[in-house]
Amino acid sequence: MVFILAATGATVGLGNIWKFPYLAGEYGGGAFVLVYLLCIAFIGFPLMVAEVAVGRRGRLSPINTLRSLSEIEGGSPRWVWAGGLGVLAGLLIGSFYSVIAGWALAYMFRAASGAFEHVTAQGIASIFNNLITDPERLLAWHTIFMVMTVAVLARGIRSGLERAVKLLVPGLLVMLLVLIGYGASTGYLGQTLFFLFRPDFSSLSFAAVLEALGHAFFTLSLGMGAIMIYGSYLPRQVPIMRTSLLVVLLDTLVALLAGLAIFSIAFAHELPVNSGPGLIFQTLPMAFGKMQAGGVFGGIFFLLLVFAAWTSAIALLEPAVAWLVESLNLQRVRAAVLTGFVAWLLGIVSLLSFSQWAFSFEFAGMQKQHGLFDLFSILASGVLLPLGGLSVVLFTAWVMHRESVLDALGGADGPGFRLWYFLVRYVAPVALVVVFLWVLGVM
Ligand code: PFF
Repeated sequence: MVFILAATGATVGLGNIWKFPYLAGEYGGGAFVLVYLLCIAFIGFPLMVAEVAVGRRGRLSPINTLRSLSEIEGGSPRWVWAGGLGVLAGLLIGSFYSVIAGWALAYMFRAASGAFEHVTAQGIASIFNNLITDPERLLAWHTIFMVMTVAVLARGIRSGLERAVKLLVPGLLVMLLVLIGYGASTGYLGQTLFFLFRPDFSSLSFAAVLEALGHAFFTLSLGMGAIMIYGSYLPRQVPIMRTSLLVVLLDTLVALLAGLAIFSIAFAHELPVNSGPGLIFQTLPMAFGKMQAGGVFGGIFFLLLVFAAWTSAIALLEPAVAWLVESLNLQRVRAAVLTGFVAWLLGIVSLLSFSQWAFSFEFAGMQKQHGLFDLFSILASGVLLPLGGLSVVLFTAWVMHRESVLDALGGADGPGFRLWYFLVRYVAPVALVVVFLWVLGVM
């Protein structure tokens, strides 16, 4: 139970409610969503099982787990680089994650104070623009969020937080249903279903495939060792497949519900769906401004979002902290402060990407407006996480012996295991390599 709560806390976050809708909107809906779901099923889920199994077998921080298992299985010591990659990815994602969580913090107060009541779409757009082009305010929220994250990392005890996840997920589901109810009342749910679930493959660009793949990793917190750490605390008798399946299904459910809510609101109020990272901050306030007791609902919604982001941010920085503690013998408090400081500093780059340092660039035919923020995001989800994931998949299926893997999973050699083994041994690596070759222009 604690594992499910911790893993759900790590997976359900801004990725589901903020990033999935904005990517789906940017890339035209259905086809993007389909590729994302395929990546979840055929790469994400098998990889999650592999990460948990490797973590449980190694029982150390990801870097040291890979080192020790590799030694036992007769693999190369170079596998530790996969763990190092994860630490880097965590720092990079953690840096901009905290900036966006800061937006959510700001919106929590705004919604609760009734700032969205009877405001027009233009008014809401200007509230958003005023926020993101004010670096000082953003810095304050970013700092508050990072301090919250470091405070938990430094203590290293999260049982209270994990118990709170029990409230978080049902709370988020209820709030999303309220928003979908609002969307349905405007009569735009049908159009939203079409948008999200009727794939139009003519709109499926190369960039869309890469971002859908990267987002599958991002949303499931895979490819950087975070899930491996949670796996390292998992008792032996817990069935990994079923537990991971539950986590994956919950995560996907939250994302799809968020998509339904946000696009129905966008269609109802004729708001653009391709407005990028600002999408939820420009659509949701419209609904909260119009519904009964919208201030209360809005306040609760953004509070839950901040909470979801918090439990994810902890997981993002944990691999770095664990490594500093284990390998450099740093005290936990120092390791947490140092990690948080690096991520905070790096976050300032993202924060300025919405104002002073903004520049636009073309990414595989897509116009990206927010300079280094977009670049960090693509680099982390599109390159670092898939590379980390590929390493774990190869390590599990080709370095570890089949018996060790079977033993690590603690299950019987049944059809379920064989199907999963086939996915990690062939399907996932081939799919990942094909995408990489494509990125590099080889294919
Ligand atoms: N899965 C989180 C989200 O969807 O918001 C982001 C994340 C958390 C990625 C932890 C990676 C990680 F280790």
